[in-house]
Amino acid sequence: MVAIGSTGAGPVAREQGLPPVGGMAARVRWLAVPSNAAWLAQALAHPDLVLLDHAHCERKAAGVALQLMFRYPGDGQLAAVLSPLAREELEHFERVQALLARRGIPLRPLAAPPYGAALTALVRRSEPDRMLDSFLVAGLIEARSHERMALLAAHSPDAELRELYGDLLTSEARHFGIYWLLCERRFPRDRVAARLVELAAAEAQLLTGLHREARMHS
Ligand SMILES: [Fe+2]
Ligand SMILES: [Fe+2]
Repeated sequence: MVAIGSTGAGPVAREQGLPPVGGMAARVRWLAVPSNAAWLAQALAHPDLVLLDHAHCERKAAGVALQLMFRYPGDGQLAAVLSPLAREELEHFERVQALLARRGIPLRPLAAPPYGAALTALVRRSEPDRMLDSFLVAGLIEARSHERMALLAAHSPDAELRELYGDLLTSEARHFGIYWLLCERRFPRDRVAARLVELAAAEAQLLTGLHREARMHS
């Protein structure tokens, strides 16, 4: 049995003023539940597949930030924080892609688990709810990435992978902090917290079953 949930995200979350989510035990404050041991065992058994999926996740994270900038083109404050975030995600993508190349693993498409699309489907259609939900969903995915990279950094038998995940996870913690601050600047805190509880519960529910293939979010 591995120790799940000791991600070290608590202090970051507190610095960013992130609220604990309803007395739940996860160390990453956004998350309703920590990842389970079955996910970690599956991920550790398929490191190449997780690395490849991770490359796709970094590219998708950049895409999410860019998509928000395109959806709200007149929002300078949004662009000021999301443009560097998108750039950083692409740097992560390039770093993972370089490691894949060194290991002779070709970049190829992977079938996505239902996680991302299912979370996106929870985003309400009308503004300003759409904006709030989009920030929270993006932040939840960042938070889960951070938590899982911390697990891989702690438990991978491969020193190079431990170093990679250890280096990247602090950025992901900062990213969910950015999405939280965007919420907090634009919406009443109690409304943000209430919606986060709902979406975090849905996110946890999506991870109760294990995807048939190892993925970062399955
Ligand atoms: Fe990243
Ligand atoms: Fe990120």
